[in-house]
Amino acid sequence: DKGGWSSFMAKEINDQPDAVENTVRGRVSERGVEIPELTALGDERLAGIDRVIIIACGTAAYAGQVGAYAIEQWARVPVDVQLSHEFRYRDPVLSERTMVISVSQSGETMDTLMAVKYALERGVTTVSVCNTQSATIPRESDAAVYTHAGPEVAVASTKAFVAQITALYLIGLHLGRVRGTLSAEDQARAVEQFETLPAKVREAVDTHDQIAQLAHWMADSRSVLFLGRHVGFPIALEGALKLKEIAYIHAEGFAAGELKHGPIALIDHGQPVFVLVPSPRTSPLMHSKVVSNIQEIRARGARVIAIVEVGDTAVLPFADDVIRLPLADPFFEPLLQVIPLQWFALELSTAKGLDVDQPRNLAKSVTVE
Ligand code: M6R
Repeated sequence: DKGGWSSFMAKEINDQPDAVENTVRGRVSERGVEIPELTALGDERLAGIDRVIIIACGTAAYAGQVGAYAIEQWARVPVDVQLSHEFRYRDPVLSERTMVISVSQSGETMDTLMAVKYALERGVTTVSVCNTQSATIPRESDAAVYTHAGPEVAVASTKAFVAQITALYLIGLHLGRVRGTLSAEDQARAVEQFETLPAKVREAVDTHDQIAQLAHWMADSRSVLFLGRHVGFPIALEGALKLKEIAYIHAEGFAAGELKHGPIALIDHGQPVFVLVPSPRTSPLMHSKVVSNIQEIRARGARVIAIVEVGDTAVLPFADDVIRLPLADPFFEPLLQVIPLQWFALELSTAKGLDVDQPRNLAKSVTVE
């Protein structure tokens, strides 16, 4: 049931405040974050983990990339992200102290299932972040941390993505608490950020009308670029993937710092570029670097759509369009920034008369390797 929306994707974008709230529910208290399924693994086992590898495909892998920054920060353990279908071919170095976290909305993605089985055979601790109750991957894993985004029908993943990032953050905070690497202050801040998150996600959903106007004049675009730094980098990749999937427009995401190492050659007059701008309050250094990137591409004719924190005026002289989002701590910015990009893909797909929910050549769940 689309609940009165024109597509499942539109409904699911709108469901995102509930998706994050439901994923957090029961896992956060004044004592910090506690996920019972991780507690069941035993604190000693979690404290002994010396390496985390996140495996996933597509949008779930981008959620993994965002989560990796936070887990590494809070739990002080090295974290890498690998595409499930690449994982076993590199003969990865694994031990009993490795934790593999798989991320999958469906829990049935064959590439990810095969990677989980490969890890299990090598004695690794496997944790599944999954949205579908009792799917194969969570059943096969040592622990299942469910996202509670509700059923996702549209092929293009939206609410599962924000719920996956939320669940990975909860895992990072749980590990940080058990391992004694998370300061009381960081814990309290994160708990407070989770409390205010659903209302901020709602404000991000409310950017729809502004994005719809933008999409109107951009419907003929042949290529769109996305730039981000730090946790904004995987959001740039995700924004590009959404556009490819449902609007069939060539799109690429880049780490903003990589521009001058090649991609800036693509910038020509009128080239649309979305830029995810970190907060000037909490990340002044990154912010100033991204503003310089905007100046560089603007000088070469790019049409810049800047996604900023409300009150950031530094970008105004250089941006053609500015989308404003509520204030949030750095790790919580991506959960807001991705939403206007989801709307953008949906609006361009609609403007081109395409089937938003069922793009050509794609299936919701990829059950072959
Ligand atoms: O069910 P999964 O999360 O394992 O699916 C992984 C990818 O196939 C999926 O995220 C795909 O990239 C989506 N269609 C993205 O919108």
